[in-house]
Amino acid sequence: MRRFLSSEPYQQTQDDKRVQQELRARGKLPRHVAVIMDGNGRWAEERGLPRAAGHQAGIASLRDVTRAARELGLGFLTVYAFSTENWKRPKREVSMLFRLLVKMLRDELREMLENGVRLNAIGQLTSLPKLVQQELFDSIERTSQNKGLTLTLALSYSGRWDLVRAMQAIALDVRSGKISPEDISEETVRAALTTATIPEPDLLVRTSGEMRLSNFLLWELAYAEIHVTKTFWPDFRREHLYDAIRDYQSRERRFGLTGEQLRGTVTTPGTEKTFIEKFLSSK
Ligand code: FPP
Repeated sequence: MRRFLSSEPYQQTQDDKRVQQELRARGKLPRHVAVIMDGNGRWAEERGLPRAAGHQAGIASLRDVTRAARELGLGFLTVYAFSTENWKRPKREVSMLFRLLVKMLRDELREMLENGVRLNAIGQLTSLPKLVQQELFDSIERTSQNKGLTLTLALSYSGRWDLVRAMQAIALDVRSGKISPEDISEETVRAALTTATIPEPDLLVRTSGEMRLSNFLLWELAYAEIHVTKTFWPDFRREHLYDAIRDYQSRERRFGLTGEQLRGTVTTPGTEKTFIEKFLSSK
């Protein structure tokens, strides 16, 4: 049957279990972490290796981060594996990426089944090579009853593509009289996206230091905390994920409210009133 790349059977270390316990005790864990896995090419170039070697090494990072996310008890991990824009890369690199993806899906299936990982995919999946579709849909089907971590691969995906798709679907519902334009709400849009069944990410991690969203989950990331690390994706391991979570735990998520509202405290209303009135009556 299907085997993993690593010959050693995997076992979580006691030290790592302790670190995870400390993380849980520190505060709220994000329910959903999204990752822009960037820097594979530069990682390879720095070592005088072909770019494909960077993608291959990136698979080990994805495996370690997925294991750690599952062990921590995170509900959802969504990774940007291939963007709509990535189709413009040299044909050889694109085809190598898909060959690596097929191998990854085959190698990791057993571990996903044994550990309750549910595989999911978003994007223009019908544009993927037939063999990729077969492996992908097979793994999705076979892991569909799993109740642990949901690992979503964004493949041939872009946030704008998904929003356009959603708008077209909503427009069709309006045209057929199923809904009226006034009925369109944030919930209508959310439900029409390919991410409708998963909650919005709480934390976005981007590797290799770039400060961009790169067309990833444009609607869904509206309130996500963003953690950027200079580490290239092939060097990214669970310790880096833990750093990102610690960073997340140190943030105050306000969702448009004031810090005081969130903490249930108020400034002395008298003080605020005097302060503002002084300003309003000044020339
Ligand atoms: C970006 O690095 C990364 C990708 C385009 C693919 C990353 C995905 C994986 C390694 C996981 C497995 C998924 C597949 C599809 C095999 P880059 O090439 O843009 O790096 P650069 O910015 O340094 O050139």
